[in-house]
Amino acid sequence: MRCVVYHGVGGPEVVAIEERPDPVPGRFEVAIEPAYAGVNPADVLQREGKHPVPAGTPKDVPGLEVGGRVVACGEGVTAFAEGDRAFGLVSGGGLAGRVIAHERELFAVPDALDDQAAAAAPEAFLTAFDAICLQAGLGSGDTLLVNGASGGVGTAAVQIAVHLGARVVANVRSEELRPRVAELGATALQADEAFAHVQEEGGADVVLELVGAPHMAGNVASLARGGRIIVVGAKPGDEATIVLRDLMSRRGRLMGTTLRTRPLEEKARLVQEFGRRIVPAMAAGKVRPIVDRAFPLDEAVAALDYVRAPGKFGKVLLDLADRGG
Ligand SMILES: NC(=O)c1ccc[n+]([C@@H]2O[C@H](COP(=O)([O-])OP(=O)(O)OC[C@H]3O[C@@H](n4cnc5c(N)ncnc54)[C@H](OP(=O)(O)O)[C@@H]3O)[C@@H](O)[C@H]2O)c1
Repeated sequence: MRCVVYHGVGGPEVVAIEERPDPVPGRFEVAIEPAYAGVNPADVLQREGKHPVPAGTPKDVPGLEVGGRVVACGEGVTAFAEGDRAFGLVSGGGLAGRVIAHERELFAVPDALDDQAAAAAPEAFLTAFDAICLQAGLGSGDTLLVNGASGGVGTAAVQIAVHLGARVVANVRSEELRPRVAELGATALQADEAFAHVQEEGGADVVLELVGAPHMAGNVASLARGGRIIVVGAKPGDEATIVLRDLMSRRGRLMGTTLRTRPLEEKARLVQEFGRRIVPAMAAGKVRPIVDRAFPLDEAVAALDYVRAPGKFGKVLLDLADRGG
């Protein structure tokens, strides 16, 4: 298989595209050959040594998600057969032409999703669903504030929340992208306007924080009674000052979360719940993974730079079959 390899820690100079032996699925594992691979901000942080790789995961091949066709099943696999399409989370090794995943971390890809959408869905949608629905308990009629709404997780969160009947206020930094986020069903504004709007409307029941420190004071000030802030994204070393009595008077709750380090059983529960509550909406075309752009595998360095650059709408992919110019 061809894959992205990190030779140690650093900048673009540590990134190589290499041919490696095809990995073989173990007990309860399947091998998937995806057409595309989703690139995430965490892949850049891992390259820089700022995103620890869980034990038992290949340290030098990055990539947190997979969506594609099953080509081999290990002993004991019952949920999938060769030829099925599956998508889900992996703890590493996702930026590769063949990816190994435990069958319980996977769900069947609905026919409505093409190869790009299948690759773009897992990390963004599972992160968003887990944070706003399972952890923060967003309900129909609630108000959700999403900070950093135009990227992969943000566009997924807006769509899931709208689908569930919540009102969504989206804090979108890029003026050009606000109309596109608004088309997903949110009121898309710049940060200060978003906080003011939420406060005028009675406060946010849930705040999804995808950027970190710059928004935390505004988040607390914008909470409804009993509101929940869930921090999903922050820069390494980010520190924020909040007014604790404002959190207390709103009886607010402040939470943080990560996906990658969770044990298999927790990830399996999340994937199954996601399959039950959100995949049918994907199958019906009511929510859809949004792809900004796919880079040829040989341009992985450019793809990693692009992930970190401002102005994207949705996900960045690697085209695993495209060897570029
Ligand atoms: N905890 C977890 O398990 C988990 C899982 C997945 C992702 N994450 C984290 O969640 C965050 C979002 O992930 P993603 O995949 O959606 O990333 P992404 O596609 O790069 O999106 C990031 C979004 O944040 C916006 N943004 C960045 N700085 C901003 C600022 N100062 N003010 C307003 N908006 C700003 C970006 O807008 P511009 O285009 O204007 O820059 C973009 O819309 C990342 O930090 C990622 O590492 C965490």
